Amino acid sequence: MMPMMSGNRTVMSIKGCIFDLDGVIVDTAKYHFLAWKRLAEKLKINFTEKDNERLKGVSRMASLDIILEIGNMKPDDKIKEEYAALKNKWYVAYISKMTPDEILPGSIRFINDLRKEGIKIALGSASKNTPMIIRRVGMEILFDAIADGNVVKKAKPDPEVFITAAKMIGIPPEECVVFEDAAAGVEAALNAGMMCIGIGSEKILSNAHFVVPGLNEMSLQKLKEIEKGIRL
Ligand code: G6P
Ligand code: MG
Repeated sequence: MMPMMSGNRTVMSIKGCIFDLDGVIVDTAKYHFLAWKRLAEKLKINFTEKDNERLKGVSRMASLDIILEIGNMKPDDKIKEEYAALKNKWYVAYISKMTPDEILPGSIRFINDLRKEGIKIALGSASKNTPMIIRRVGMEILFDAIADGNVVKKAKPDPEVFITAAKMIGIPPEECVVFEDAAAGVEAALNAGMMCIGIGSEKILSNAHFVVPGLNEMSLQKLKEIEKGIRL
């Protein structure tokens, strides 16, 4: 589909922007890693930063399953619940001290620019801790809707979280763009039939329509150009 032209200005067909939280808006990926690493050490499992890439965007229990698989351990469900609760206790201790300084550069400016253009803004995250993080960094008022691990059941790469976010803001999937830092999240966006801009490394996010190192590299103009390039 070609972008519509009005005068000499290109009008975007994008009406909704859906942001992943961890690693896109705030730098919580490091806290997830530290808390999982602490659990792995307790279980004598060798867990590296490379392994951690597989956990990004993945739900808490699915992340635990990956770590247990690395350690070749198969505890029963009750023990697994205990491990997940322990990791979350350590994780919450980190995020409960977060401040607005930990908002990733460019996020607020870019979201405000989008809002001025009338574009709806949603969060689409697997995290059950989303409300606490958003409150801690003072970003509640910037989002029209929040689809998080408290409202969706299926983990990325299932598209449920992004489809739910799009429904909440009342925009059809083909008019939404997702910003994601995790390979599983990029797949979820594509599975939802949405355009996806990867935030981070091209190597890891090669399936995204376009990749930028961070939201500080994004602007309304750039989004228009990316959309134009994709749709031409
Ligand atoms: C995000 C992170 C994952 C994390 C998941 C669940 O998607 O990228 O690393 O496992 O949220 O987070 P939670 O805060 O509910 O444990
Ligand atoms: Mg993420």
